[in-house]
Amino acid sequence: MSSFEEVFGSAPTVVAEAPGRVNLMGEHTDYNDGYVLPIAIGQRTRVSMRPNGKDQHVLYSEMLDRAVRFTLDNPPTEHFATYVYGCLMEARVDGIEAPPLDIHVQSDVPVGVGLSSSAALEVATLRALRALTGARLDDARLAQLGQRAEIEYAGVRCGIMDQMASSLAETRRALFLDARTLERRLVPLPPASAVLVIDSGVARTLAGSGYNQRRAECEEAARRLGVLALRDIKDMAAADSLPEPLRSRVRHIVSENARVLLAVDCSNAHDFGLLMNESHDSLRDDFQVSVPALNHLVALLQAHPRVYGARMTGGGFGGACVALCEPQALHEIAAAVLRDYARAGFQGRLLVPSPAEADNAGK
Ligand code: GLA
Repeated sequence: MSSFEEVFGSAPTVVAEAPGRVNLMGEHTDYNDGYVLPIAIGQRTRVSMRPNGKDQHVLYSEMLDRAVRFTLDNPPTEHFATYVYGCLMEARVDGIEAPPLDIHVQSDVPVGVGLSSSAALEVATLRALRALTGARLDDARLAQLGQRAEIEYAGVRCGIMDQMASSLAETRRALFLDARTLERRLVPLPPASAVLVIDSGVARTLAGSGYNQRRAECEEAARRLGVLALRDIKDMAAADSLPEPLRSRVRHIVSENARVLLAVDCSNAHDFGLLMNESHDSLRDDFQVSVPALNHLVALLQAHPRVYGARMTGGGFGGACVALCEPQALHEIAAAVLRDYARAGFQGRLLVPSPAEADNAGK
């Protein structure tokens, strides 16, 4: 693990950070112009930059201990570098031009589990570019550039939730976002509750293709129903004419949007937890983006007496589960659930609270 100074010889000009996120409610609703409720996690990505006076960018990833060289005309092939490249390209569309840079990326956001390590990288990169160039770029616009970088250069037709969450959410207040209008407000968790995130240990192998397929199904359903997006369907009866699986997909989006609106105004952790449980059922049965390991982990979490509610989180097909819990019991719950999960032959791991947060809490 090498610092910017160790890799490039002297200090960076700018340093910017952005957090990962976990979504509490509103899954697959963002690209249907609906509502979401993500919250930032403690793990963050830090991007440091300095103009290098050369004719190409040099990007170093501390996690991979590798440097990659590229120009805007000659894109990198390494996956992690395409996110940074995409941000530089999209920033240019907005008139933000950077000279060739030395770029250093350091992150403790877990990768590949649905906690938006890519959005954290995009938002941190764009924040660093904003600081370096002095560009006027508000936080919502910055998130949109990150989303475009992901769609155009990483090939996932994602919605706006992850980048908006990384750009605007806090660790103690969730971001209630209308993905159509980008209207938003910060919402505290219900009193006497805290967030627990556990990785199922199942890689999100089908995530890209399954995600794009679900998105296409939703667009097809909206087209057949004659609406701009499924957000515009309030009454499920409207979907009765649709064949399966489109009808079930619509049912998830309509019910999930309604759950976000209830959750936002919910000041009772028990009620919020019930909404999370319903959300999981809907993702499993109607949207069909869960897998057996996630269902098992969620069932273990839901059965724990100090858990208010739990569900899979993120795009699905593997990855992590989120639970709302009694704050004093987070580690006790994680230990018990991980033990029972291992007995069933799975290998999970605690993601939130992060090990660093646990250390700080102990001090
Ligand atoms: C991924 C996408 C988001 C959102 C979620 C599902 O994280 O990047 O835009 O669609 O899946 O809720």
